[in-house]
Amino acid sequence: MDFDDPKQRAVFFDIHDGLPRQGPGSFDSTKRALELAGPLPAAPRVLDVGCGPGMQTLHLAELLPAATFVAVDMHPPFIDELKTRSAAAGCSERIDAQVGDMAALPFGPGSFDLIWCEGAAYSIGVEQALRAWHPLLSPGGALALSEAVWLRDEAPARVRTCWDIEYPAMMDVPANRALVAQCGYELKGDFVLPVSDWLDEYYVPMEQRIDALAEKYKGDTVAGAVLAESREEIDVYRQYSDYYGYVFLVMRRT
Ligand SMILES: C[S@@+](CC[C@H](N)C(=O)[O-])C[C@H]1O[C@@H](n2cnc3c(N)ncnc32)[C@H](O)[C@@H]1O
Repeated sequence: MDFDDPKQRAVFFDIHDGLPRQGPGSFDSTKRALELAGPLPAAPRVLDVGCGPGMQTLHLAELLPAATFVAVDMHPPFIDELKTRSAAAGCSERIDAQVGDMAALPFGPGSFDLIWCEGAAYSIGVEQALRAWHPLLSPGGALALSEAVWLRDEAPARVRTCWDIEYPAMMDVPANRALVAQCGYELKGDFVLPVSDWLDEYYVPMEQRIDALAEKYKGDTVAGAVLAESREEIDVYRQYSDYYGYVFLVMRRT
């Protein structure tokens, strides 16, 4: 889809706004990545980049009850949603949700003990993210990010076509690990997110939304094409999930 086309963009956000999360993930995966990060200060300062509506922010707030958070996303409705959700969860005083650009974060050196980014670093590229966020970490601070990766070579044409649209720069796990080392971090561990993190947590709610919107946009060819593209993304995952996935990379600043 063409994100610069206001109509297509509106349909895209009609699909996505209000979903529980905006990418694959789960409480269990967030917890596992946090455990890989190792010990943190008693009251860690955490930055959640590309937080979306903040499902993982709330999970981290539960897992780190003494932590304070800054959560940043460029899409204002997601920030509003996180504010509503954190108020409902009784932790809004610990979560400062802000509209902002991850490429130009307005924080000083050493501001955070932990930087978190689920499924959003692709927006500026993993290498740029790793380099730009490095100085924001305290010495030895931890960074965890999840990122779409190729899991097998020679994906069928239907898969390639989908990812050529979505994320042409997508790499495999070894290439991501190499970047971690090149950018001044020690990898503490990594794991591939389970299929349930994609389907149960993300695609099934998204599919239900697409079904509902098919009625609303009946006869509208522009909207129909955006809905069809999202359906194709889900169908391709159902059929070819062994070719690609999300890896959680957990590291420490060296
Ligand atoms: C795939 S979603 C993941 C959201 C959330 N972490 C989750 O897993 O539900 C990617 C998020 O990155 C945000 N994003 C994309 N580019 C951004 C940028 N330059 N600065 C801040 N946020 C950005 C989008 O608005 C979106 O919420």
